[in-house]
Amino acid sequence: MKIAVVGTGYVGLVTGTCFAETGINVTCVDIDETKISKLKSGIIPIYEPGLDQLVLQNVEKGRLHFTTNVRESIEQSELVFIAVGTPPGEDGSADLRHVLEVARQVGRFMTNYLVVVTKSTVPIGTAVKVKAAIQDELQKRGVELDFDVASNPEFLKEGNAIDDFMKPDRIVVGTETEQAQKVLSKLYKPFTLNGHPILFMDVPSAEMTKYAANAMLATKISFINDIANLCELVGADISMVRQGIGSDARIGNKFIYAGAGYGGSCFPKDVKAIIKTAESYGYRLRLLEAVDNINEDQKKILVKKISQHFKNHLEGKTFAVWGLSFKPHTDDMREAPSVVIIKKLIKAGAKVKVYDPVAMHEAQKVFGNTIEYGKDPYDVLIDADALVLITEWPEFRILNYKILEKLLKNKVVFDGRNIYDMAEMTENGFDYYGIGRTNVKED
Ligand code: UDX
Repeated sequence: MKIAVVGTGYVGLVTGTCFAETGINVTCVDIDETKISKLKSGIIPIYEPGLDQLVLQNVEKGRLHFTTNVRESIEQSELVFIAVGTPPGEDGSADLRHVLEVARQVGRFMTNYLVVVTKSTVPIGTAVKVKAAIQDELQKRGVELDFDVASNPEFLKEGNAIDDFMKPDRIVVGTETEQAQKVLSKLYKPFTLNGHPILFMDVPSAEMTKYAANAMLATKISFINDIANLCELVGADISMVRQGIGSDARIGNKFIYAGAGYGGSCFPKDVKAIIKTAESYGYRLRLLEAVDNINEDQKKILVKKISQHFKNHLEGKTFAVWGLSFKPHTDDMREAPSVVIIKKLIKAGAKVKVYDPVAMHEAQKVFGNTIEYGKDPYDVLIDADALVLITEWPEFRILNYKILEKLLKNKVVFDGRNIYDMAEMTENGFDYYGIGRTNVKED
C-alpha cells in the first residue's frame, strides 16, 4: 500500500512515520522546502521523544520519503491524509485555507480511485467542503474519477505522540462508503491487533468526536480550577478534594489536576472553534464559553498571588521562572500560561529570569531580549525575589532547600502545578503558594 501525508507538522510527521513503521510506503509532503530538505537529512523540526529515531529508521529502510512534489505523491497514492495546519482565524474559527488548497491539488493531480482523509482538526462540515473542492477541480479537468472523503481525527498528546499512535485508546474513522471503510480498516489493522478499538461512524460524527473529546477534557480542567479557587476561599485543599472526587469511578482520577490553566495547540483553539461552530448554527455553547473564560483567568492567577504577596509592588523585583512549555516533555509554547504570566510580570516592571529544559529557543522567539535566560534551574535563582514554577518538568520536582535558600533573596515559592509538599515548604521556612491549597502563612 502507498499513502501520502500532506503537511509535515506535528500531526503529519507522527502519522506518516508511524504508518511507515508498519511496513507500508509513506510519502510525507510539504511545500516548505527547507523543512523537507532538513527532514531528508534527518533533522526533525519538532521536539517529540522517540520521533527522530523512528524517522531515521524508516527513511533508511526506504519506506518513508519526504518531498515537495505534491503532484507525484498524489499520483502514486491510494490514500492521502490531509494534515496541514488549521490556525485559528481572528474570530477564533479554524482557518481552512490550507486544507482546501490540498483538496484542490488532489482534484488536480489524482489519477485513480483515492481515499482522501482529513487528519487536521477541522470544523464539522469540512469533509463536505473537501469533497466539493476535489469535484470542482476534476470538473475543470473534464475527467470523472471516483474518490471518497473520510475523517480520521487524531488524539495525540504532545510528548507521548508515538505511544498514543501505536497503542491508541481508540481510532475514530468517519466514512461515507464501504470501500473507504475497507481501505482504512486495512491501513489501521496493525494498530488494532491488541484489542485497540477502531470505531467507524458517519463523517460529521467523527468530526464532532474530536471537538467533543477536547472540549470535555478542557471542561474537566476548568472545572477543577474553578473548584480550586473556591478551596482557597473556604480553607480546603484541592489535592484532597481531587482524590476525594476522583475515587468515584464515574468521575475518575485522571486529568483533574488544578494548575495555572491549560495551553497548547489543541484545547484553547478547539474550545473556541466549537463555540464558533455552534454560533454559526445559532446556538450558544454556554458551558464551553465558561470553560474558556475560566481558563483565561486561570492563566493570570499566579500573577495575582505574586502581586498580593509583594503588596502590588513588582517594580524592580526579579522573578525566577521554572518551566515555559505549555506542559512537560515538549518545547511547544503555544498558548502556554508562561507567556501570559511573564508578559504580565514584565508589564508590572519586574525582571524575569527563565529556565526550561527544552523550550529555551522557543522562548527566545516569544520574549526576545525582554527577559534573561538561565543556563540551569539554579542559575536563574541567583538574587531572585521568588521562584515561580509554571511547568512541572520532572527535574524541578525535588528541591534542594539549602541551595534555594542561599540563592534566593526571599524564601518565597509560587507553585503553579502543586508539585511541592506544602508542609515541607513551611518546615523549611518558605512562604508557599499553590493553586487551591490554603496558604499556611497568612499575611
Ligand atoms: C490534547 C489532548 O489530550 C489530545 O488528545 C488531543 O489530540 C490534543 O490535545 P496536548 O495538547 O498535547 O493534548 O496536551 P495535554 O496533555 O492533554 O494537556 C493539555 C493542557 O492541559 C496542558 O497545558 C496541561 O498542563 C493541562 N492540564 C492537563 C491540566 O492543567 N490539568 C490536568 O489535569 C491535565
